[in-house]
Amino acid sequence: MIQFIYDSDRELFENAIEFAQKQVKRLIESHSDYYPMYTVGGKWKHEGPAWTHWCDGFLPGMMWLFLQYLGADKPDSRFWFEQAIRYTKPLETRKTDNDVHDLGFIFFSAYHRWYQATRDKAIREVVIQAGKTLSERFNEAGQYLHSFVAEDSLFIDIMMNVGIVFYAARETNDRALRDVAIRHCITTRRCLVRGDGSTAHEGIFDPATGEFLRQSTQQGFRGDSCWSRGLTWALYGFTTSYGYSRDPRFLHTAEACADYYITHTPSDGIPPWDYNAPPENRSLLDTSAAAIAAAGLLRLCRHIPDPLKGHFYWSTAINILRSLSTRFLAIADQEWEGVLRGGVYHLHKGLGVDESVMWGEYFYVEALEEALRVIQ
Ligand code: GLY
Repeated sequence: MIQFIYDSDRELFENAIEFAQKQVKRLIESHSDYYPMYTVGGKWKHEGPAWTHWCDGFLPGMMWLFLQYLGADKPDSRFWFEQAIRYTKPLETRKTDNDVHDLGFIFFSAYHRWYQATRDKAIREVVIQAGKTLSERFNEAGQYLHSFVAEDSLFIDIMMNVGIVFYAARETNDRALRDVAIRHCITTRRCLVRGDGSTAHEGIFDPATGEFLRQSTQQGFRGDSCWSRGLTWALYGFTTSYGYSRDPRFLHTAEACADYYITHTPSDGIPPWDYNAPPENRSLLDTSAAAIAAAGLLRLCRHIPDPLKGHFYWSTAINILRSLSTRFLAIADQEWEGVLRGGVYHLHKGLGVDESVMWGEYFYVEALEEALRVIQ
């Protein structure tokens, strides 16, 4: 095994983000205009099923992040700007996609970053439309945005998408839209977040009466277990919702999820794929959950009034990034096409198990870029 020695976190993280740029360049050169989800044996291009279509924003999103990291005047800045637009534009048609609950993933990662880079109002309109489309999934009786699976199903993942409804509401001054977002968060908090800060993946309702029936799962071990990625979607998603609403309940929930993550994850910051996984796959990790936790904690620490606790979240995120950037970076394997190894998409369906996954790459780069803006 090759050992890489770095003098500082800054050097380690710079090396990681340089490597990420190299791998994304390699991907777009070998598989032009292809939007991957997960690798198979370290290779992006394959015929493996998607289950659901939610990842297309992450590749251009990484390109916008590279541009943000580099600034406007570096040799590669123009390249990433042009590639980011090239890969973002084709996503516009998804703004009216009613088949998925993932419009926040798709449009916040790419279109919204394009808007932030250019302040072009026409681009903002696309993001607003995506937020309005997502709001159409609202089940009035149960007070939740339903998942792509069925009207009776609420996913914890939707916490990562409800932010785009808050955004559309704010940008258009639409109180009814904001209410939809708030009520979704309250229902998720009540039905999917447990008293100890752990989370269920899915909630099942009677869609006609709105009655909450039970906790369930699609990708976790069991309905009563804590699927680690779901926990990190909640940590990050409630932080975002607090940022838009300033509702203290959402900050409290984000902190409860963060505290569960910190107290139940090994000291290197990398969680098992499910905190209640059975012995036969207990050692399987999910580095994508770690990357999301790092990115979420870096956002959460900005909102924490207590500087000691804020610093604790910050240093936990840095610890996670250190682990990812040393033990899981695919840098030593010339054949591996991804950036981070050890992600899991859908264990039960056998999709992307112990592989690179696009959202893991994206949130890892987001966290690196954020950390590098601060550390010396
Ligand atoms: N569908 C979102 C996830 O796999 O986490």
